[in-house]
Amino acid sequence: MLFDSHCHLTADAFDDDREATLTRAREAGVTRLVTIASDADDAEAALEWARPRDGVWSTAGVHPHEAAKATPEALARVRALLDDPGVVAVGECGLDFHYDHAPRGVQFAAFRAQVALAAETGLPLVVHCRDADDEMGAEFDAGAAEVTGVLHCFTGGDALLDRALDAGWYVSFSGIVTFKRFQGAEQVRRVPASRLLVETDAPYLAPVPLRGRRNEPAFVAHTAEVVARMRGLDLGELAALTAANAARFYGLPDTGTGP
Ligand code: NI
Repeated sequence: MLFDSHCHLTADAFDDDREATLTRAREAGVTRLVTIASDADDAEAALEWARPRDGVWSTAGVHPHEAAKATPEALARVRALLDDPGVVAVGECGLDFHYDHAPRGVQFAAFRAQVALAAETGLPLVVHCRDADDEMGAEFDAGAAEVTGVLHCFTGGDALLDRALDAGWYVSFSGIVTFKRFQGAEQVRRVPASRLLVETDAPYLAPVPLRGRRNEPAFVAHTAEVVARMRGLDLGELAALTAANAARFYGLPDTGTGP
């Protein structure tokens, strides 16, 4: 079995076939997934969709692109959602200085508010970091190291990777590892086996050989296969390992060890 640790199934891209997408995931052996929220409205929609479905959980948080929406009211709605057992993490949150869709000061404030929510609730933190390695590294010293988190869709440098691993965080790799230009194989090998996750980040970042298409959880096997090869494992071993890690990270019952 495979576990897609990070996808966005509430995205408009799935409006026409959300249920069929989940069916295809299950047929491909992806029996567990977490649909990740990008703002308070999305978090409510994600929980509503995930709650009645087996093997589907959601998160609550505000993406750095949407950081301007992280008002006290929105954060209170996120906080309320975190009490629901179907909501398994805070996020995604973080810093994105590549797109700068929100002013940086606003991004920092939204991120720190969500670190505080993770600390308060004991839930793990799902973190997006793009072109902000140094600043995110500093956030570990400012409190992020006190919570458990994941750097999702990791594309950062070695210093940030080391800082996260020192703090006991998990690291998740997406379809980017299948791209020809990917140069992080050494980083993929450096993450301890017990803290390695795989994800699609669907509908974005479809892996080779499906690059350019809409991504979906069923495609996570392509990423898992490349990560397995980089680490000298077979796909079944890597799938079992990352599924068990995702279950532990999100506080879910263990999934067993079989593929
Ligand atoms: Ni995402």
